Amino acid sequence: MYLTAEEKDMLAGKYGKGTALAMKVLVALGECFDAPRMVPVSRVHIASSKKEADLWFVQKMLDAGAYCRVASTLNPGYNPDYCREHLATSEKDIELLLRTCEAYQKIGAIPTYSCTPYLETNVPRFGEVVAFSETSVTVYVNSVLGARTNRESVQSSLCAAITGRVPEYGFLLDENRKGNILVEVQADIKSDFDYQLLGYCAKKIGPGVPVFTGLPTDISQEALINLGTQLNTAGAYAMFHIVGVTPEAPTIEEAFGDKGPQRVVVITEADLEAVLEEISLPPGKIDFALLGCPHYTLNQIREVAHMVAGKKLAVEMWVLTSTLNKELAARMGLLAMIEEAGGHVLDNTCIDQPCWEYLAGKIGVTDSPKCAYYSKRRGPDFIIRDLRTCVEAALKGEVS
Ligand code: F3S
Repeated sequence: MYLTAEEKDMLAGKYGKGTALAMKVLVALGECFDAPRMVPVSRVHIASSKKEADLWFVQKMLDAGAYCRVASTLNPGYNPDYCREHLATSEKDIELLLRTCEAYQKIGAIPTYSCTPYLETNVPRFGEVVAFSETSVTVYVNSVLGARTNRESVQSSLCAAITGRVPEYGFLLDENRKGNILVEVQADIKSDFDYQLLGYCAKKIGPGVPVFTGLPTDISQEALINLGTQLNTAGAYAMFHIVGVTPEAPTIEEAFGDKGPQRVVVITEADLEAVLEEISLPPGKIDFALLGCPHYTLNQIREVAHMVAGKKLAVEMWVLTSTLNKELAARMGLLAMIEEAGGHVLDNTCIDQPCWEYLAGKIGVTDSPKCAYYSKRRGPDFIIRDLRTCVEAALKGEVS
């Protein structure tokens, strides 16, 4: 693998032991994928999940003197004050969270704790090479923004932040960004929620880079987030195209390049119905509603707030979002509407955290198949429905 003089110096330890270790990891990764060289990155997002292995790795780098050349944004953990008081989160878990956050702050990361950095704070431009990790993040920046990233891990993205480099392979290269599966959507896609189910059709679509046709072109930002998130959750996709919508697919020919599709998959109404039946509990009573995986946009918060304004929720309802959106929601009066109805808007918080052990044995409603999939291992189970049905259910205490 070709390394520049500066990269060789990093590997040799001239920039300190931490940088040398980070470069060693990246070189090994590059060799695995036959990368010819390193390329600079201008942005990084680390999907730090605040678990033991995460702390171990960042602490190892910190102890070796590493510091981020490229200040990286960070994924959410959970809001320790709220979770201690309302969700009975253990002091042991909170201590691990706080130690991990402190280590990332010391190494030079930006403590955004949002899983939608691509909407604010860390927004790459078209063609920019970046190192982003996290399910909704990688696929959104590749597909919707047209920036270039591989599906980085927590560790590889931290190494990229420390060195300012990534090995050049995979989705950084033109040839791997072309589509190879034509997905003809015959189902009538009417709502943002339908894109959650479409993304969860990964089993039928199969591995590769899907190119969707038959979708409306006035697709919302939320729908694009939903599609990518569920594709990546259900099938580890790094990228998709929608002809006439995403920037590398102005036409079907450009989406596929010279080779054309290797296979054609048709998605019908029956496929979406089958997915929903497979992943959701049947309608019935609920104990809670959990929304905001990925973190809700301001539009989604607004919709929830107007639905519950002046009413009282029958069950607990949490809406997870970024700190910026929570602040804006407060300024717009939306936060008060949700809180007066008995709901909670939580920033800095992810559904995949120990604080949600509080929900073990309960039945919830969510609009995110990803939320249901990840949360189940902590004990709750879910009915999955669109946002409006979720909020109506939270007001009534059941999904009818
Ligand atoms: Fe965000 Fe956590 Fe869901 S990072 S996408 S809330 S699993």
